[in-house]
Amino acid sequence: MSKTYKIALIPGDGTGPEVIAEGVKVINAVAAKTGAKFEFTNFDLGGERYKRTGEILPDSCVEEFKKFDAMYLGAIGHPDVKPGILEKGILLRLRFELDQYINLRPVKLYEGVDCPLKNKEPKDIDFVVVRENTEGLYLGAGGFLKKDTPYEVATQESINTRFGVDRCLKYAFELTKKRNKDKKLTLCGKTNVLTFASNLWERAFRAMGAKSYPDIALNYVNVDAVCMWMIKNPEWFDVIVTDNLFGDIITDLAAMIQGGIGISAGGNINPEGVSMFEPMGGSAPKYTGQNVINPLAAISAGAMMLETLGLEKEAKMVENSMAKSLASGKIKSLAAGKMGMGTNQVGDLIANNL
Ligand code: IPM
Ligand code: MN
Repeated sequence: MSKTYKIALIPGDGTGPEVIAEGVKVINAVAAKTGAKFEFTNFDLGGERYKRTGEILPDSCVEEFKKFDAMYLGAIGHPDVKPGILEKGILLRLRFELDQYINLRPVKLYEGVDCPLKNKEPKDIDFVVVRENTEGLYLGAGGFLKKDTPYEVATQESINTRFGVDRCLKYAFELTKKRNKDKKLTLCGKTNVLTFASNLWERAFRAMGAKSYPDIALNYVNVDAVCMWMIKNPEWFDVIVTDNLFGDIITDLAAMIQGGIGISAGGNINPEGVSMFEPMGGSAPKYTGQNVINPLAAISAGAMMLETLGLEKEAKMVENSMAKSLASGKIKSLAAGKMGMGTNQVGDLIANNL
């Protein structure tokens, strides 16, 4: 008997449940075609639950997640909850405690999608960002001294361990090898200023490249220049590897050149454990319940989930259907409210084109 993949669903806040519903629809349609089996379990986490019960993320949930094959998250963030509480208490805590040390963000311009860059086509925009997901400035090292006085001091340190950097680099090198595109790995840092943190990254990068990946071209670029080249010559990138905060920033920029937040997806990956997949956009409270939000990012995150589960054929089916649907021009725009069809209709289109 074939395996049943157990998926934990965290639809979350705002438009999260609407886009996850479409993602599940597409995965179920894939299952119907291929015989793959999935079992979804819903977890009520997010702003509503926090407001109702005061609970953010019970410890028991974290333990339960470890028993799943993967997690599929809609969005976290509520207009009535102070920024930071849910993001830190749910999203970041899950990334840390489940040791999802890679944040994988593919950047691909599909045919039929509007690109804000002049003269750039799908062949020019096709790279992947590997963002370290458990260290750096996100660890929260630091604090206040003399808080609320005129002499207040705030510090926030970037923590980079050789172990954490090496495992992230190894993932990025292996991905570059597997993609077999330009065989070029770009390290994005800031060695001219961060003479400790970025220096560690660069030494580790060059050492690993020389020792284990002689066929991969090593390319070092400062983060500010990465932003510049991403706009001017995105075709120069194949795989980019970087720390947590730089990765956060450059992937928002990258999302825009692939058509916007409506189509950008990410995976929080623990290659040895349970991984969590999510659309990059937020909970978009103002669009909640209107059937106008774009579910393509969530559907794409679902495809990444399938691929990570080892269901490569199934993942390809979803990607191909997205490509076909977008190329058909039926979806007028990727922006919320401008798609020319409802959230559920976009889901139907992808499911029908599988
Ligand atoms: C992201 C988000 C999160 C991050 C926030 C919500 C904490 O911006 O996934 O990129 O900074 O990592
Ligand atoms: Mn971000």
